[in-house]
Amino acid sequence: MKSLNQWLCGAAALSVVAGAAHAAPSSIKTQPFGSVDGKQVQLYTLTNSHGLTVKITNYGGIVTSVLAPDRKGKLGEVVLGFDDVDGYVNDPNGTYFGALIGRYANRIAKGTFTLDGKTYHIAINNPPNTLHGGKKGFDKKVWSAQPFKTGAGVGVKLAYVSADGEENYPGKVTLNVAYTLANDGSLKITYRAVTTKDTVVNFTNHTYFNLNGAGNGTILNHLVTLNANRFTPIDTTSIPTGVLQPVAGTPFDFRRPHAIGERINKTDTQLKNGSGYDHNFVVNGRGMRMSARVYSPTTGRVLEEYTTEPGVQLYTGNFLNGKNIGHDGKAYPRRSGFCLEAQHFPDTPNQPKFPTAELKPGQVYHQTTIYKFSAR
Ligand code: BGC
Repeated sequence: MKSLNQWLCGAAALSVVAGAAHAAPSSIKTQPFGSVDGKQVQLYTLTNSHGLTVKITNYGGIVTSVLAPDRKGKLGEVVLGFDDVDGYVNDPNGTYFGALIGRYANRIAKGTFTLDGKTYHIAINNPPNTLHGGKKGFDKKVWSAQPFKTGAGVGVKLAYVSADGEENYPGKVTLNVAYTLANDGSLKITYRAVTTKDTVVNFTNHTYFNLNGAGNGTILNHLVTLNANRFTPIDTTSIPTGVLQPVAGTPFDFRRPHAIGERINKTDTQLKNGSGYDHNFVVNGRGMRMSARVYSPTTGRVLEEYTTEPGVQLYTGNFLNGKNIGHDGKAYPRRSGFCLEAQHFPDTPNQPKFPTAELKPGQVYHQTTIYKFSAR
């Protein structure tokens, strides 16, 4: 039987570089995207030499759109999102579509943690817990932005300074994020952060993908492979129990490709607690390595994810409800998008055995995560 690595490499060899049919210089375009809190925000359109197009706004650092080719080379929207900034500001569902999440991505139990003997309370915005940074996380801030073009590709550099005490977190945190779109179909996201006081950080990108096309039904037929032997089971409020449970013999075993819908409705306590897949997987190995591959048999599109982070949250859009009307006026029903949020494990500030999420003055936080698009 093939090992996971052999399978991953073999499948990569079969794939074609996203949009290889086209050939034009890569480009970057800046245009107004509306205003928030009286500040003008921009939309940056990055296009690689094969026509793969990624749109990013400096409101929340949101990836609003990815036009990726299918197996016939036809470009289509694969990201759930809106065509103007108001869609994001007024989102009735709290979806975090496409956004950069901070200061602490995912949940902190009861919004409470203790650091250096002091207890901190963050707003309970997902009762009984805090989710994705509190009341007004990094996803709802206007970031400073600078488009760039280098030999590596076209991109946009974003920066956000979170004041000491913002959302009750200690320390002033400066976060720099660069999105780079390369000609090989990869969208690289690099993060760098420093702090003035001991604090906790967890950053991720919250893009929802549908490789059949955003608004074209569910993602239940997508085949997922995860480079993870273990996951972090959760309680009924989605807080990890602290156990790193082997996936073997469970519906969480994606070491070989499985359709998202194959086991999602099984009677299983973990699937019940997450209302489907909404769990953090412990990525095998360290350093930059492949964490996930998703393939749509309908369109042939492939999304690969690589990351330096210890975990990836697979979220299958269980709380989407059709009330978000996005690109091309299409509704986004339940399970019509999936996220692969590279991150530290949820609730790490309360879980001494998890890889630490503490950041101290003098230390530099680094993360690199790549979403790579192709088709076969
Ligand atoms: C969480 C989900 C949540 C979604 C949108 C995901 O990261 O794991 O539970 O519903 O974000 O807020």
